[in-house]
Amino acid sequence: MGGIVDRKNEHISICLEEDVESGRAPGLGRWRLDYRALPELNLDEVDLTTQLLGRALRAPLLIGAMTGGSEEAGRINRVLAEAAQRCAIGFAMGSGRVAIERPEAMASFQVRDLAPDALIFANLGAIQFNYGLEAEDANHLVREMGADAINLHLNPLQEAIQPGGDTDFSGLLDRLAGVVEKIEAPVLFKEVGSGIGASTARDLAKLSVAGLETAGVGGTSWARVEALRQPEDRAQFAGNALAGLGVPTAESIIACREALGEDRLVVASGGIRTIEHMGTALALGANAVASARPFLEAAQGGVEEVVTLIEHYIHALRVLHFACGARTPLDLRGRLVEAPG
Ligand SMILES: Cc1cc2nc3c(=O)[nH]c(=O)nc-3n(C[C@H](O)[C@H](O)[C@H](O)COP(=O)(O)O)c2cc1C
Repeated sequence: MGGIVDRKNEHISICLEEDVESGRAPGLGRWRLDYRALPELNLDEVDLTTQLLGRALRAPLLIGAMTGGSEEAGRINRVLAEAAQRCAIGFAMGSGRVAIERPEAMASFQVRDLAPDALIFANLGAIQFNYGLEAEDANHLVREMGADAINLHLNPLQEAIQPGGDTDFSGLLDRLAGVVEKIEAPVLFKEVGSGIGASTARDLAKLSVAGLETAGVGGTSWARVEALRQPEDRAQFAGNALAGLGVPTAESIIACREALGEDRLVVASGGIRTIEHMGTALALGANAVASARPFLEAAQGGVEEVVTLIEHYIHALRVLHFACGARTPLDLRGRLVEAPG
């Protein structure tokens, strides 16, 4: 076991055992969904089926990017992948950098046999392309994992809280422009819980990206997670002090949609904890919603527990669509009323 593998296990245990919430709301409560006492629709007609990156999903739901690298992480990935396959939703894996540094760690990401039809995302830290990674490393991960697409995460706040973190973000956008051209799978950029704001979304939209995932403020805070891992007082102070810094999920959805237009994907994530959050995120323009930590908790109970959670989500989301008179997620777009106070 070494540094990067221990870090993966620490992230999992901290996220399961400690309070790692940002302490701020995702901003989705500014609206309420436009409930219709006369929906003029048969519940049986509601159709949540969504085509995403060449895969058919039963509902626009994704298990957010979390883990890989250690034995425990591999067990979690297998549980989540099997549940995603059974429920026909998407599944994103955590950063694969560990598998580039230690090829023996790749097995913990190899779940395609358990999820032959699921939409699967590989993942790498975008900052690593300023520290020696090349597009070929991303292509290698995608091939080895049998992934459909890759998420490149942006995490300046998280890196800056870690003593010795990778904090040289200078010139990264230009570097990424060249890298993305050479990646042989669709690329999405995501944050890790501090959100993508309007100017960043516009910069990223200039690259040939398939989409953006908000990972906004309102849920798990990686400043908070890192604060809990650090022995150093000033790192603990900074992580807790800045746990709420960033772009709330609702604002990030609007910014990403505006920057990308209608042709590219917006995945809403960061503090998606309720069915109304999911509905509001879709109504604001997201193509799909992702939730991370709630699935980590469910994965502790095994595949059946994750399947039950997803089935409950899908059923409730169908009922929400019906009660708002929306036959499909696209019909739900804009069905929002500004909620006073
Ligand atoms: C245990 C754990 C590990 C994570 N590791 C990664 C990662 O490797 N790459 C990444 O892009 N995001 C990672 N994330 C961030 C999530 O994908 C997500 O953006 C963030 O947790 C906010 O979503 P949530 O509020 O639903 O948890 C991780 C989250 C958790 C809980």
